[in-house]
Amino acid sequence: MNGYFSIAIDGPGGAGKSSLSKRLALELNIIYVDTGAIYRTLGLYCLNHGIDCKDEDSIKKNLPFVKIEIKHEAGIQKMFLNETDVSNMIRTPEVSIAASDVSSLASVRNFLLDMQRKFAKEHSVVLDGRDIGTVVLPDADCKIFLTASAAVRAERRLKELKEKGIDQSFEDVLKDIEYRDYQDSHRKTAPLKQADDAVLIDTTNLSFEESYNKLLEVVNEKINLC
Ligand code: DC
Repeated sequence: MNGYFSIAIDGPGGAGKSSLSKRLALELNIIYVDTGAIYRTLGLYCLNHGIDCKDEDSIKKNLPFVKIEIKHEAGIQKMFLNETDVSNMIRTPEVSIAASDVSSLASVRNFLLDMQRKFAKEHSVVLDGRDIGTVVLPDADCKIFLTASAAVRAERRLKELKEKGIDQSFEDVLKDIEYRDYQDSHRKTAPLKQADDAVLIDTTNLSFEESYNKLLEVVNEKINLC
């Protein structure tokens, strides 16, 4: 025991993981790591270099030239790819699909494992992703599996994209969500699935505040924060 505690929040895209995790980390004054951003950064590298995101051999050959860094600036996670800040560039629908594609490759997951674990060794953390409670931090002090219906998640994603000025139809957003849900939960290595000891929170019919209160209740039950 290193004196730090860790909270693992897994679930499909659009379930509210990142906004809820961010708020939780702020309230507990601990570090938040959005692990999806790491896969997005590698996906962006492949798109920029014309590399097929499903071609494991080509990606493997390129990994020595990929430097991905996470920096926290005023509590906000920034992603750097070979020294360039790509934090905004990784939020497009194309990069979402590329991230899901590269994340299904075992060599990619192994390559990115240590950088995720390192945070939990050096800080108290909230990590959100797909395999945090099952693979990255199997001994996390608190594990939550956050979900919502695909239609509700697509609505939320659509709103986020609109706010960023990205125009997509509901049907296209839903199609992307369903593609990623299927691929993320059917891959061989570290598929998206609820850890046996994770608490399920379904936010389909919950507002942000209601979801957050539920989350806090579970965290308080599992970790003595006083
Ligand atoms: O959370 P997100 O939508 O930013 O994640 C993008 C993709 O990255 C997602 O479709 C699957 C992959 N991912 C993963 O495989 N494992 C994680 N821990 C986080 C994300």
